Amino acid sequence: MSCQYNLLFLFLCGFAALSVSTETRGKDLLEGTSYIIKLTTRNNEKPSEIKWIHDTRGHVLRWKGGKIREISEGVSMEEDGSLKFSSVSLKDTGKYTFNAYNDAGAEIGKGEVEIKVYEKAPKPAVKIICTKNGNATLTCVIGKREDLTLSWYKEDKMIQNENKLQVFLSSTEVQENKPYSCEAHNPVSSNKSDSVTVSCNEMKAVGDEVSFQLDKIVPPSVTNITWKHINSVRTVKAIEWEDRDTTIPNPIFKGITTLDTATGQITITNLTVEHSGVYTIDINGKEQEQRFTLTVMERVPKPAIKIKKMTDNPGVVYLICEYSETIIWRNSAGETLTGSKPIHPKGEFINVTKGGNPEIFYTCTLQNTVSEETSDPVYERDLFKGEMLDGH
Ligand SMILES: *[C@@H]1O[C@H](CO)[C@@H](O)[C@H](O)[C@H]1NC(C)=O
Ligand SMILES: *[C@@H]1O[C@H](CO)[C@@H](O)[C@H](O)[C@H]1NC(C)=O
Ligand SMILES: *[C@@H]1O[C@H](CO)[C@@H](O)[C@H](O)[C@H]1NC(C)=O
Ligand SMILES: *[C@@H]1O[C@H](CO)[C@@H](O)[C@H](O)[C@H]1NC(C)=O
Ligand SMILES: *[C@@H]1O[C@H](CO)[C@@H](O)[C@H](O)[C@H]1NC(C)=O
Repeated sequence: MSCQYNLLFLFLCGFAALSVSTETRGKDLLEGTSYIIKLTTRNNEKPSEIKWIHDTRGHVLRWKGGKIREISEGVSMEEDGSLKFSSVSLKDTGKYTFNAYNDAGAEIGKGEVEIKVYEKAPKPAVKIICTKNGNATLTCVIGKREDLTLSWYKEDKMIQNENKLQVFLSSTEVQENKPYSCEAHNPVSSNKSDSVTVSCNEMKAVGDEVSFQLDKIVPPSVTNITWKHINSVRTVKAIEWEDRDTTIPNPIFKGITTLDTATGQITITNLTVEHSGVYTIDINGKEQEQRFTLTVMERVPKPAIKIKKMTDNPGVVYLICEYSETIIWRNSAGETLTGSKPIHPKGEFINVTKGGNPEIFYTCTLQNTVSEETSDPVYERDLFKGEMLDGH
């Protein structure tokens, strides 16, 4: 029953639990914790005989005439006859009944208590599978555990009414690049997966290597595997394995593409921008749902700082770094400096005032999604060389 996240349900479930708790609903315990099942007697009379019985294992404890006659491992008896577990384990789950008698053999206490012991919830993991039309399926990987229920989170906000192992995301949701996580819980513990940012686009730099592999196992009976590459203008075979023969018909994949026929994994090395696109796999002639999107970008070049001296102010120079994307300026103390847009169409500049410390230097770093390059440092001693000599 899904009782969790709805106020109305919470109320109903709380009510249901309350109304049965005195009888059949047991106490939920975390494996490894200690627990005492209370023994109660009429008028708190002191018993002279006590029996604790488990519904399937029989006698857990027998005490009579001031002596323990029978006792199971891991339990002990409290002063008042209560049953103590030093560390509960899964096998302790069940109904416990007790009987207490006085010297005259009259029953002075009787009761039944149920306990249910749970393992700690394991830490789940979120697996992303990208499918047709940019859609994706997220799976919460928890292993074989039947005591667990699941919740899904998008950016730390719970997605209502999703307690399934899988969540389906439309292409629009995939493109939001939002982090998702799932949480496994049982009545006594919970654990949340790391957040994964859903993206169905693998970003690589020119020269890098990429591998794609189906999420499911390729059966050993498979004899034919074809990887196809689709871009906006055409579909070509990237690599094909048919009746033990591997062929790479298209020149852009020759010499750089390999296929692991046991797993179906394709690997492409020495990537170029041309390899961008969607990759699909056919197994024994059947196209698989899972797809892979690759974007290969040029690496940023190593920048060189240009120096511009002011004719009217010899105490200030401009450092210029030309690039159309992200530029980060730093000084020798590691501080980030804010650059300004120059009159040039692209790039940024900072201005450096003669500060009298010739060891200070400046660098400029270019960054894109796949790479980063930093210029050689420019030292203040080189910027104001002439002036410093003049000063001597
Ligand atoms: C979740 O599981 C991990 C690994 O099993 C563990 O290290 C972590 O302490 C757990 N977190 C909680 C809240 O139980
Ligand atoms: C992908 O999602 C769109 C709507 O977001 C849906 O129309 C389409 O059928 C889905 N495709 C697959 C293969 O599930
Ligand atoms: C791929 O790149 C490596 C290292 O850069 C180079 O040695 C090799 O010749 C390249 N192979 C092809 C087929 O371009
Ligand atoms: C594998 O490819 C060969 C050659 O095209 C074809 O004759 C055979 O039927 C294919 N086998 C399967 C299982 O698709
Ligand atoms: C250059 O630096 C000086 C002194 O720090 C400052 O007053 C001036 O506004 C700066 N000029 C520009 C264009 O940033």
